[in-house]
This record gives sequence, structure tokens and C-alpha cells, in this order.
Amino acid sequence: MATFAQWVHVSAAVIGVGGMAFMLLVLFPSVGVLNDEQRALLLKFVFGRFRWVAWSVIFLLIVSGLYNVSLVWLVPWGVYWKVLTLKIILAFAIFAIVLFLTIPLGIFTRFRDRRQLWLSIAFGLAMAVILISAYLRRGG
Ligand code: HEM
Repeated sequence: MATFAQWVHVSAAVIGVGGMAFMLLVLFPSVGVLNDEQRALLLKFVFGRFRWVAWSVIFLLIVSGLYNVSLVWLVPWGVYWKVLTLKIILAFAIFAIVLFLTIPLGIFTRFRDRRQLWLSIAFGLAMAVILISAYLRRGG
């Protein structure tokens, strides 16, 4: 079960963070070849598809992450737990940004108008989360 949960956790992280990297490094720089109307249409459809990927990834990361927490429950209070808490706070900040970008509600429109900026912030935080996870993996 622990192996399965680790596989789910790492696969979801790879798909989610990889999707963000693809958008920032490949898709956004490429849509410049389209006119304004085509670009808006393409990005609307891309985010429509990304929504389901992102929501599934968030769900899987939380479920498998909580299971991972149960596995390390007996680690004594100290640096490990402080760093793990920081990681979880950063992960939830990323989830909040991604949800604001993908929930199709009018109140998030101003947020979505700056989606490249917010996606860049989420991606930067995700890279920090991966670094912290590697540190935790080595025992803190
Ligand atoms: C952006 C979201 C997240 C990313 C990118 C991420 C990524 C990772 C990665 C790459 C690992 C290392 C796996 C390995 O070495 O096999 C890991 C481990 C872990 N993750 Fe996450 N994770 C995320 C969210 C969460 C959340 C929300 C929780 C808790 C609710 C969580 C709890 C854990 C725990 C407890 C471990 C094991 C640490 C250890 O090896 O001691 N993760 N995560």
C-alpha cells in the first residue's frame, strides 16, 4: 500500500507540475503566432481541459499526501515536522492559485486576467515543494 500511495503521489506531482511547466515554457510562448481571437479561443479550451487534470491531481495529492503523513506519524516532533508543515502550507497555496485559475466563476476573472503571472508563481512554489520533499525523503 505504501508503494502504491507513493506511486500515486509522485505520478500526480509529475503530471501536475509537468502540465504547468508545459504551459509556461511551451504553450504561452507559442500562442503569439495566433491572432487575438484565435489565442483567446485556444487558451479557453486549453484551460477547460486543464481544469479536470488539475482537479484530479489536487485530489490525488491530498489523499496520497495524507496517507504519507500517516506513515511518518511516529517521527518525533522537530525539524522534520516543521519542514513538512511548511511543505503542506506551500502545497495548499499552490492548490488555491490553481483552483482560482480553473474554477469558472466571475469572481475570479481579475485573477485569470493575469494567469501567466499566477501560474509562474504556482510553478515556482511547486519547485520549492519538490526540493523540500527531496529533503524530507532523506530524513530531514
Ligand atoms: C504541490 C503539491 C505536492 C507535490 C509537488 C508533492 C511532491 C512530493 C514528492 C516529489 C515527494 C517525494 C516522494 C518520494 O521521494 O518518493 C513527496 C513526499 C511526501 N509528501 Fe508530497 N507533494 C505535494 C503535496 C503534498 C501534500 C498536500 C501532503 C500532505 C497532505 C504531502 C505529504 C507528503 C509526505 C508526508 C511525503 C513523505 C515525506 C518523506 O519521505 O518523509 N504532499 N511529495
